Amino acid sequence: MTPAEITDLISQLTLEEKASLCSGGDSWHLQTVEKLGIPGPMVTDGPHGLRKVADGSMAGIYDSVPATCFPTAAGLASTWDPELVHDIGVALGEETRAESVSVLLGPGINMKRSPLCGRNFEYFSEDPVLAGTLATELVRGIQSQGVGTSLKHFAANNQETDRLRVNAEIDERTLREIYLPAFEMVVKQADPWTVMCSYNAINGVYSSQNRWLLTELLHEEWGYKGLVISDWGAVVNRVEGLRAGLDLEMPGDAPRNDARIVEAVRSGDLDEEILDTAVARILSLIARASAAMADPGSYDIEAHHQLARRAAAASVVLLKNDGDVLPLIDPDDVVVIGEFARTPRYQGAGSSKVNPTRVDTALDSLRQTWDDVPFAPGFTLTDHPDPQLADEAVSLSRGKTAVLFLGLPAVAESEGYDRTNTDLPTDQIDLLARVRKVASHTIVVLSNGSSVGTAEWDDQADAIVECWLGGQASGSGVIDVLTGKVNPSGHLAETITRKLSDIPAQLNFPGEFQHVTYGEGRYIGYRGLDATEREVAYPFGHGLSYTTFAYCDLDLLVRPVSDETAQDETVLTVSFTVSNTGDRAGATVPQVYLGFPDATVDRCVRELKAFLRVELDPGESRSITIDLTRRDLSYWDILLHSWTVEPGTVRVEVGISSRDLPLTGEVILDAPTVRHPLRRDSTVAEWMDADEEFAAKVRRATEQTGIDLDSDPTTAAFILAMPAYKMLQMAPIMTPEELDKMLGD
Ligand code: BGC
Repeated sequence: MTPAEITDLISQLTLEEKASLCSGGDSWHLQTVEKLGIPGPMVTDGPHGLRKVADGSMAGIYDSVPATCFPTAAGLASTWDPELVHDIGVALGEETRAESVSVLLGPGINMKRSPLCGRNFEYFSEDPVLAGTLATELVRGIQSQGVGTSLKHFAANNQETDRLRVNAEIDERTLREIYLPAFEMVVKQADPWTVMCSYNAINGVYSSQNRWLLTELLHEEWGYKGLVISDWGAVVNRVEGLRAGLDLEMPGDAPRNDARIVEAVRSGDLDEEILDTAVARILSLIARASAAMADPGSYDIEAHHQLARRAAAASVVLLKNDGDVLPLIDPDDVVVIGEFARTPRYQGAGSSKVNPTRVDTALDSLRQTWDDVPFAPGFTLTDHPDPQLADEAVSLSRGKTAVLFLGLPAVAESEGYDRTNTDLPTDQIDLLARVRKVASHTIVVLSNGSSVGTAEWDDQADAIVECWLGGQASGSGVIDVLTGKVNPSGHLAETITRKLSDIPAQLNFPGEFQHVTYGEGRYIGYRGLDATEREVAYPFGHGLSYTTFAYCDLDLLVRPVSDETAQDETVLTVSFTVSNTGDRAGATVPQVYLGFPDATVDRCVRELKAFLRVELDPGESRSITIDLTRRDLSYWDILLHSWTVEPGTVRVEVGISSRDLPLTGEVILDAPTVRHPLRRDSTVAEWMDADEEFAAKVRRATEQTGIDLDSDPTTAAFILAMPAYKMLQMAPIMTPEELDKMLGD
């Protein structure tokens, strides 16, 4: 359908029909317009597999058609591999299309402000560049199959506590630099068919009726052309929402909201053009989906399972490998401990829960190669310790390399509530300590969606292997890593702190009385931990390999920035060489961080700006070149309301984690000095800097009173820091009216 055809269609609809199109026909379909033969397309969760509920209702949410369950976003993020994530997107798109579903409701790209967020398994990272880059590829992959995505939850849905009504108080710069950039990147680079607004309010306004968010920022500033849909039940005031840019209410007309829209148009409270714009966007989505729906096709279940296995292995982060206990080489030396080896935990609870096409367990997968590897469950997945199971596991481990499959039970983390701690269950920690005493080596393999604290038991393990919630092939995927078939290359997308209280956001998480203040500002995750110089258990970006890498030859090329330099223009080129210095093929992920030691505004010690996954054969070296743009060097200036660069030193650090940065260099960026518009309460120093006449008057006045600004720094500091209009009260070098005149007021 062309825009003209859509306009024509809209003209054939009654006001009631238009209003009814603005809400769902049922829980998972858009409204059908029988008179025009317009079918209501189906939308379903998402994000790491299709959850198409068999009977189309909200009831029985776990009764969905079989679909491949890929690793959840926490796992995908740990791959740091945009190409793999793109391939997974293609597979997800094929399955969505094959089931005649038009939109897969995901990905979720909210920032991991605290590891306690119950939905962190569904989110990518504590860093917007990593989350945005990977989600862009996921969306591109899915949409390459003629079906859409829903980028969610827009915005600042960073906790589950009170998620339907909490007001997140976030300052402008923090929003712009931390909570919005991943959305901005995906919107601008991948054009998601839909964006899903969050339940919560931001700075006092619910996202579902936040005009600044849904219209000014999303459409007008970022150029978004698609459809905004509500999270399920997020609408508070439907007419306000429509006016703000919320096109489609899901799941349906609640309570009588379509009628409210009609009444508002009739009474003149709502401009009918606003309704028509929403209807046009809804019809465009239907038009966009029609080709794929006419030809759903099929998909290869086995090939998708193999892709899920590859993804599960790539999601694995080898946190520790003392004495190179991994990979496992001697079948006679290994015992497997832990119920998770037999009953894997591979996805989280809530709207994203997929009915997998099949599930690989680690135990079965290992026994396919080493058929009589001994196993003891060691603990149950209930809350009740079982001493007999623990005793059996301990005696089995005597003198052996014990591979312990530990993790969080399903109830520990879910959509709908937050965690209260990051601890592994006590019976598992106790079991590890007992096994440690008798085993020759202990290897801990973790399954958890949000990070777990390791500091309490780290010294009990020779190796720690973090699998996240690795999807239906998590069992076979991790065995591929443990046995060395796959060389691990995953890296942490979130910091593991030594203590929960080290997390910068913890003082303000999850808030109270329906209110949460993002008091740590931009200092979430490694940004805050680096600023406070906290020791961490495992830093952001960390991940070991069975081979070793060396980084050398950092070279920096900087170009001057002028007022004409576009935001996406390259201003800094970072080149270096990476080498595989070990004896196995493997992949390393060089990460480029920037810092701005001369900045006049507050800047984080370092921020990730780019990364790349590089596969290298033993002995191979590769030259890497990464271009950074003006925007990459910018901060959000709250007085100019724009992305702004300052002249001065740019520190470039390249390495394999935020705390392991072998290459460091500095360049001096030539850029115009940042000038803020003068205000009455700009300081005397700012006025003197910007206005010669004002400066001359101050100098004259100070000289007359015997003050020499150049040789009396104490008095100078006192005067120069004063707001100009205040100084006039003490030194009437001009009248307040004359000052206002200089402002052009
Ligand atoms: C979740 C969304 C999900 C929707 C539909 C909501 O409760 O927050 O992520 O897409 O339900 O199931």
